[in-house]
Amino acid sequence: MPASAASAASAANDGAQLYGQYCAKCHAEDGRANNLRGWLYFAQNLSQAKWQDRVSDAEILETIQQGPGAMPAFAEKLDKAEQQALLRTVRELRQP
Ligand code: HEC
Repeated sequence: MPASAASAASAANDGAQLYGQYCAKCHAEDGRANNLRGWLYFAQNLSQAKWQDRVSDAEILETIQQGPGAMPAFAEKLDKAEQQALLRTVRELRQP
């Protein structure tokens, strides 16, 4: 398998790892943003059901790419497969 295909495949499976690397420092491992940075920056609580119901997949992708407010933009840092993997991971953070 060519290296690029291998990395795309593993990126698709590895949203959780990407999340831990790039997102958890502000949004916390469980998405609640109940840590120092989340608190300082007013990061969104990603586990909140009300927010999950309101936000579309396209909006989450746009957030990841552009980074609203204090959140950094990841359009240059992450490829499309990685962004999709993160979208799925964000959806999995939903709490009832
Ligand atoms: C430096 C801290 C920081 C990092 C790192 C960060 N975020 Fe955020 N994030 C924020 C803040 C602050 C907001 C709220 C921005 C606003 O609404 O003005 C936010 C908002 C969001 C939202 C909600 C947008 C909406 O529509 O309400 C999503 C989804 C999100 N972040 C996902 C991610 C993902 C996925 C990553 C990792 C790729 C990430 N964030 C990394 C700080 C961060």
